[in-house]
Amino acid sequence: ATLQGSTDAPYAIEAHESVPSTNERARELAALGRTDVAVIADEQTRGRGRRDRGWTGPPGGIYASILLSPDRPPADAPLFTLAGAVAAVRACEDVGVDAGIKWPNDVIVEADDDHNENGTGDRETSGRGGRKLAGVLTETETEGDRLSWLVVGVGINANVDPGVLPPGATSLRGTLGEDVDRQVAIRELLDRFHELASDPDAVLPAWRERAITLGRRVRVETEDGTIEGTAVDVTRPGALVIETPTGRRTVHTGECSHLRRV
Ligand code: BTN
Repeated sequence: ATLQGSTDAPYAIEAHESVPSTNERARELAALGRTDVAVIADEQTRGRGRRDRGWTGPPGGIYASILLSPDRPPADAPLFTLAGAVAAVRACEDVGVDAGIKWPNDVIVEADDDHNENGTGDRETSGRGGRKLAGVLTETETEGDRLSWLVVGVGINANVDPGVLPPGATSLRGTLGEDVDRQVAIRELLDRFHELASDPDAVLPAWRERAITLGRRVRVETEDGTIEGTAVDVTRPGALVIETPTGRRTVHTGECSHLRRV
């Protein structure tokens, strides 16, 4: 597997046909002292998702992990995650699929007239915020008050059959009814990610533009319980601000469901 065509991003490309996990491989490279590498694969056999979940990795997907060593505090890591989500949306748009971001970093297709046989019912899924097309998993290591490295892993369900994906997920193939040029999408992903990673102040505005969560009624399950209200903003580290009947709450991490529009 190689990446065809050139990208503007200054990353060394390590392309694999199949790996257990591109994030795992990027971490190995970090341990060897490497940086500015993009590990990409056509298939993952042990892909990892957020919250200790797996990530289904059939051939034809886009699995990419970018290893960086930004001279920044660990509190800035979520900005790179948001940049990964924006870059994934741009990559999907580039091959003809309109997508948006569900806080914090799920890339979602809202249309319910797609070719997905695997949904759990249009009303339900659109009520929950559409079908998941891509996700981002960031892993970091810190030394003192600086990040020593950061791996941003992006998985896009590209040319894969939605039937092999978990319920509520879809793919570019499932949405378009035909396959996309993975190389085009991968180049766009890397270029847009590089652009945002080099200009952290641009990340939040770009994220807000594509966020489908803002202005929606949401329910977020956090470690301290459930918060329900209207999502009104995202603050610099990527925290969601929710307007509730008892005042504004800010949540840093949690499972977000979009509630039915009323
Ligand atoms: C999520 O749970 O939404 C995040 C999924 C992230 C999956 C990607 S695929 C490329 C990289 N390698 C992994 O093992 N995981 C990430």
